Amino acid sequence: MKYVIGIDLGTSAVKLLLVTKHGSVIQEISKEYPLIQERSGYSEQDPNVWVDQTVAGLTDLLQDFNGDPEDIEGISFSGQMHGLVLLDEDNEVLRNAILWNDTRTTNQCRQIYHAVGEERLLEIAKNPALEGFTLPKLLWVKEHEPALFQKAKKFVLPKDYLRYKLTGQLNMEYSDAAGTLLLDIRKKEWSKEICALVDIDSTICPPLVDSHAEIGGIQSGIAASTGLSETTRVFAGGADNACGAIGSGILEDGKTLCSVGTSGVVLSYEGSDDKDFQGRVHYFNHGAPDAFYTMGVTLSAGNSLSWFKDVFAADESFEDLVSEAGTVPAGANGLLFTPYLAGERTPYADASIRASFIGMDVSHRRKDFVRAILEGITFSLNESIHIFRNNGKVIDSIVSIGGGARNKVWLQMQADIFNAKIIKLSSEQGPGMGAAMLAAYGCGWFDSLSECADEFLKIESVYTPDSDRAESYKKLFEIYQEVYGQTKAMNEKLVEFRN
Ligand code: XUL
Repeated sequence: MKYVIGIDLGTSAVKLLLVTKHGSVIQEISKEYPLIQERSGYSEQDPNVWVDQTVAGLTDLLQDFNGDPEDIEGISFSGQMHGLVLLDEDNEVLRNAILWNDTRTTNQCRQIYHAVGEERLLEIAKNPALEGFTLPKLLWVKEHEPALFQKAKKFVLPKDYLRYKLTGQLNMEYSDAAGTLLLDIRKKEWSKEICALVDIDSTICPPLVDSHAEIGGIQSGIAASTGLSETTRVFAGGADNACGAIGSGILEDGKTLCSVGTSGVVLSYEGSDDKDFQGRVHYFNHGAPDAFYTMGVTLSAGNSLSWFKDVFAADESFEDLVSEAGTVPAGANGLLFTPYLAGERTPYADASIRASFIGMDVSHRRKDFVRAILEGITFSLNESIHIFRNNGKVIDSIVSIGGGARNKVWLQMQADIFNAKIIKLSSEQGPGMGAAMLAAYGCGWFDSLSECADEFLKIESVYTPDSDRAESYKKLFEIYQEVYGQTKAMNEKLVEFRN
């Protein structure tokens, strides 16, 4: 039997999947790492911890592997998007990576608009200037750490750095480059125009490759410490959301994905680069050749639930907490939650907004809070579906992956709130599976990613909306939508009291 490995470098952990030629996951390993959050709005990680934890995961995987390491034909990657990794002339890391959920860069976003112009930015990069994207982070370091910035010779994104450490080759691929704000996403080249206007030397941008491009082999030191074979071929990989799309079969027009990780996204396949959503949703290159996707992002999706668990229910399992919430009726007995724990992206790009519980009452128990959190996250994702539908997209069935697909209560809630059929696949590991599929396609096992999806992906169950609950949720969603406007000004006044 031949195998591939999909590595998903996430925000809370790196997950490794060993996958057969038929798409069966025969081994799954996860290694966690912390976020470094020194101030409100800051979010960093040490890139070398990603590498150490991946090497530890690969070592465990190879230790339990009964076959010949040469039978692992390919490896590819999925990675948390946008995070800035700055390298010096020897490709050594200069500072902690500044991550996608770090929102310190509101001023830099203003500077980008001032220098490039909102319209021109949308024409070239197809996206607005948002705090989470990479260019504002580059400008922040340039302004606040000029001596360090002087030493920066290249920037890469998280999984590109990991791949560099495994292979010795430094590149970036298009699906992740699209989230930097420096890529001309139609021409698939770095925009010299944007670089010049914001005064960034374009040589800081690494060479670009396709997601399925072969990058090289495993360096001998890594092979020796993990047990991998140097003959295993390494392929570039993709942004976690692009890989989530591949790993869920979102490979043709009309297909939609809902994915809940630390963040949550609703993503829709686009066959062309010419739709116009006026920047209200992100528009990125897909990991599938010459395709695109549009996407709305909830910054704190799974993160809202883990925050609640850490602070109020540390000893409980996620499964027990979510099952308990299944005994509470739709609407959480009048308790409403907005998941703006770290600001928001879609539909409000707002770094200052914060979360609220509205309608707390002495009768509310912990399970009501958990239900309200699950509903609030799902309402937030529904905002993206609302934008898509208002722009003429028909969304009647959605593939659900990640945390939202691990529990029947949440899957049914998605069907009722989105008012669409929810499809659960036999593996909800979308990004890791997508990375494995890029390796399988790169190895030449299949003629296309769609052919690979036909072999690898199986529908496990389908959830249909209940008309009464869908009706109640429609009313609740309207109330939910009012909360942002009602709490925006108050949150702005609270900024000075945050650490
Ligand atoms: C997408 C985004 C997040 C990260 C999470 O724009 O910022 O979904 O990719 O890893």
